[in-house]
Amino acid sequence: MFEILEKYYLGPKIQYALVKAPLIARKAEAGQFVILRVNEKGKRFPLTIADFDRDGGTITLVFQEMGKSTHLLGQLSAGDHIMNVLGPQGNPTEVEKFGRVVVVGGGIGVAPVFPLARKLKEHGNEVTAIIGFRSKEHVFWEERMRSAADRLLIATNDGSYGEKGFVTEVLARRLESGPADRIFAISPAVMMKAVADLTRPLGIKTIVSLNSMMVCGMGMCGACRATVDGKTRFTCLDGPDFDGHQVDFDELISRLGTYREEENVSFERWRKEAKHGN
Ligand SMILES: Cc1cc2nc3c(=O)[nH]c(=O)nc-3n(C[C@H](O)[C@H](O)[C@H](O)COP(=O)(O)OP(=O)(O)OC[C@H]3O[C@@H](n4cnc5c(N)ncnc54)[C@H](O)[C@@H]3O)c2cc1C
Ligand code: FES
Repeated sequence: MFEILEKYYLGPKIQYALVKAPLIARKAEAGQFVILRVNEKGKRFPLTIADFDRDGGTITLVFQEMGKSTHLLGQLSAGDHIMNVLGPQGNPTEVEKFGRVVVVGGGIGVAPVFPLARKLKEHGNEVTAIIGFRSKEHVFWEERMRSAADRLLIATNDGSYGEKGFVTEVLARRLESGPADRIFAISPAVMMKAVADLTRPLGIKTIVSLNSMMVCGMGMCGACRATVDGKTRFTCLDGPDFDGHQVDFDELISRLGTYREEENVSFERWRKEAKHGN
């Protein structure tokens, strides 16, 4: 059993949870995730390790209430326990001194971007963070991100805070003003596709963290498969990070859309509206 030490809302339907998990905290690295089962009635589902404190023995989770399992987790309070937390799972994000790096986080994707930006900075990179939200009330972790990056740019879809528009528009302007040596994007699949479409013609290597559906989390069921460079890869074992220019996003979005109509609708919107997509 894993005790929840702190829990509160960061925004509409977005919650923060600090969980006691000393063995996971000891090994966790940016880019990895845990697989949770809230209680015996809940299903297993993945959440990214948004932060970890090795000395304090805690991990931080930031999650959006989507369906039954995330809602079940959302109903717990500080002092309650999660039945299973398995991890750290997946491969840590490969970080070295690249030079000028841009990290792009959209919505709930801002949480995993935080430990990544911090690690990139520790490795001597100059880090620009671009984070995007639907509107001002959805903005979270601004100060954390400011502390982790050299420069922070915030975008909201409706312009109620920061720059108006999608993170890709802010990214395009950033790339017009100066080159970048590496880009990382963590956001809904449609946004990662748009980032990859923007950076492909510029030849800037772009790493994305795939949010495929997961069932077993250990390479057995195939639920998380994605086509990368023409080959089938398992997000849980081979990822979650992949070269964004090699990911078949249309297939990924279509598979996610099998379960989530909203993803298809927003993909169509992106196709029509994104200035830099194809
Ligand atoms: C490696 C990885 C890391 C993740 N990290 C986080 C995180 O840090 N915070 C967070 O809030 N979420 C994260 N997710 C997504 C999270 O796992 C899902 O939102 C969760 O499994 C939904 O479970 P549920 O029972 O609440 O909803 P369900 O009832 O299973 O689904 C509710 C709705 O959400 C859709 N959905 C379910 N899973 C996904 C998904 N992976 N991508 C897009 N839509 C989905 C379903 O199609 C459905 O329409 C991550 C996913 C992966 C693969
Ligand atoms: S989730 Fe089952 S193979 Fe990846």
